[in-house]
Amino acid sequence: MRNLNQHTITPEAIERFANTPDPRLKQIMTSLVTHLHDFAREVKLTEAEWAQGIAFLTATGQKCDDKRQEFILLSDVLGLSMLTVAMNNDKPAGCTEATVFGPFFVEGAPHYEHGDDVANGASGEPCEVRCTVRGIGGEPIAGAVIDVWQADSGGHYDVQHAGLDHPQGRGTLRSGADGGFHFKTIVAEAYPIPTDGPVGALLDATARHPWRPAHLHFKIEAAGYEPLITHVFRDGDQWLDSDAVFGVRQSLVADWVAQADGTHRLDYDFVLNRSRPRGS
Ligand code: BEZ
Ligand code: FE
Repeated sequence: MRNLNQHTITPEAIERFANTPDPRLKQIMTSLVTHLHDFAREVKLTEAEWAQGIAFLTATGQKCDDKRQEFILLSDVLGLSMLTVAMNNDKPAGCTEATVFGPFFVEGAPHYEHGDDVANGASGEPCEVRCTVRGIGGEPIAGAVIDVWQADSGGHYDVQHAGLDHPQGRGTLRSGADGGFHFKTIVAEAYPIPTDGPVGALLDATARHPWRPAHLHFKIEAAGYEPLITHVFRDGDQWLDSDAVFGVRQSLVADWVAQADGTHRLDYDFVLNRSRPRGS
């Protein structure tokens, strides 16, 4: 088709995806073109703005490497990550809620036994964490595989420290027969998401702050249960109501209780939903 104008180009672009064999890909591309074109028409996108957008996305890609995921960060600050989490983790009441994964998870973190120090040299105030993993029926879940990861007191994850040759502030544990697990670590502190890339420039240009309230990340997997990716947030943090990535849920806010010896202690009980048949 020739002589397409600003209105006829949209159905023509959609038509080009008509033979997509995978129906889900076809649905996604059709909707993406529809909304992208509507967006461009709505804001009356100029050619200079389009070029700026392309330059921004190019810089976002160029900022990515095996340790830095600027596209996840972009999705996070746009609220798209949390929207996707919210849409896909509708669990029965009583289950622990999910929140954003974030860009700092590392596969294959070292395994620790109960009582070990997961901080492994990361700076921060000492803290003990005691948790249980149960099913929605109250049954203890033994043998669950738990990943924990967190930033140090300077607000950095180990992977953000150039030259650090061993993992700090992250590890895997297994729940015991009673569903319990416990470990030593450092107290979680608030930190800004990385601002030295295009996403930081975007936050700056839009007068947004980059802070995340203090939290500890957990990923919990157990046979017969839905995997859970979540955080536990620290009560009293000043950023709980304006998390830069929209991840806070009240049910995930807990007390890091100061102990007589100057350390802190966090207790938290996780509740997993049973695996559901696909599509239900
Ligand atoms: C995090 O909590 O690790 C995180 C989440 C989203 C963006 C940046 C960091
Ligand atoms: Fe984090």
